Amino acid sequence: MSDLKARFADRIIDGKAFAEGLRARIGAAVGEIKVAHGLTPSLAVVLVGEDPASQVYVRNKGRAAEAAGIVAADHRLDATTSQDELLALVATLNDDPTVHGILVQLPLPDQIDPAAVIDAIDPAKDVDGFHVVNTGRLATGQMSGPNAALVPCTPLGCRMMLEDRLGDLSGLEAVVLGRSNIVGKPMAQLLTQASCTVTVAHSRTRDLAAVCRRADILVAAVGRPQMVQGDWIKPGAAVIDVGINRVPKPTDDDPDKMGLVGDVDFDAAIAVAGAITPVPGGVGPMTIACLLANTVTAACRQNGVEAPVW
Ligand code: GUN
Repeated sequence: MSDLKARFADRIIDGKAFAEGLRARIGAAVGEIKVAHGLTPSLAVVLVGEDPASQVYVRNKGRAAEAAGIVAADHRLDATTSQDELLALVATLNDDPTVHGILVQLPLPDQIDPAAVIDAIDPAKDVDGFHVVNTGRLATGQMSGPNAALVPCTPLGCRMMLEDRLGDLSGLEAVVLGRSNIVGKPMAQLLTQASCTVTVAHSRTRDLAAVCRRADILVAAVGRPQMVQGDWIKPGAAVIDVGINRVPKPTDDDPDKMGLVGDVDFDAAIAVAGAITPVPGGVGPMTIACLLANTVTAACRQNGVEAPVW
């Protein structure tokens, strides 16, 4: 642990430890559901092509699922797969009652329109929460019952960590930096539902630093290495760093060494923030844990079983 991490250890939101706890609860719930209802949740992960980062993500998702007692099936398709071929696989998985969750790893090769593929996934099996039915349910606050939204995994994990650290979020000023469909927009929806006052900021926002400095909760999801500086952060704020950026991190032994950094300048931020997620070991592990939670939720809803509350 670096000196700074040791000095400010109580300020670190340890996503890795939080995710381990969540995964243990998911594993226990899966065991109970199997015994009580004879139901084994299952997840189909589809990877098109050989993108190395996607291969690592897909492998990690499969391992985490199996460790929690969820059946995980990988479907690996050639990089030249046509959109129609991928849509045919999605249709087969939609129709298979033993498959409860479907995840098509993004990005997809250029010949395939990701929106067409997401549209084709049965919303009840859309464990990424990307289908317009699920984004619509989230936007309209349809969060319980058999037709509730499946919520995108990364923002779901961020909200869990924030509520764990801060308790009730109501009335807090939240700034979400980034407006992607996968993180920024659903994060803003979840924080609005938690009764925060939410600003969605982005590359065109005027005086971004001043906007971020208003935040009691700052969620950075822009994909720009260490963009958020220490003086962008209100003293005591909770900072959630969604960025996973691969950058050169040369050492004396290895001048070509690469490493991961977030969208926040961690060393500057930890001296100001009240709480902050590190990269790695913050949001990333929670995203995978929430994928497992969504898979169990989806399996329960499809089989008339009451879904656990995570
Ligand atoms: N690629 C990077 N992150 C994700 C994710 O959360 N879901 C999917 N399907 N693809 C991704």
